[in-house]
Amino acid sequence: MQKKIYIGFACICVLTIFYNCTTNTIDEGDVADLPPIVETITYDDDVEAIITTNCISCHSGPNANAGLQLTSYLNVKAAAEQGNLLNRINNATNPMPQSGLLPPETRQIIDQWVADGYLEN
Ligand code: HEC
Repeated sequence: MQKKIYIGFACICVLTIFYNCTTNTIDEGDVADLPPIVETITYDDDVEAIITTNCISCHSGPNANAGLQLTSYLNVKAAAEQGNLLNRINNATNPMPQSGLLPPETRQIIDQWVADGYLEN
């Protein structure tokens, strides 16, 4: 009898953990659920720090991955405007950075920068 209760309890634990893991993955990427940003977003104040922290280790210098430099206002703007930077930072199946999507709050800043017209400062 005791054993059955124990096994039942173990099953509930496993199911709870599984449920939490799957729902977290679904919730994680939703920029649309965040309140809108009210401040003006600029490259110098907001975007540069995000790119420096998360991207330039692979996207700078002579061996930049995919030949993509993300080291200045102009080349980050070009990657967002003409390239697929926005698509990749929001692409859950093929994300940039490759280690996984950045938090929605961070991606929302980049989206807003684009919506505001790529302000430099
Ligand atoms: C650990 C290394 C690494 C990091 C960090 C990284 N990237 Fe990449 N990136 C790559 C590699 C490798 C490729 C080429 C393969 C691919 O497209 O998946 C690539 C490709 C890309 C492409 C596609 C370029 C093209 O011409 O198709 C974009 C856009 C991009 N990265 C943007 C970013 C941004 C923005 C960040 C930061 C938020 C970032 N990457 C962080 C390694 C990295």
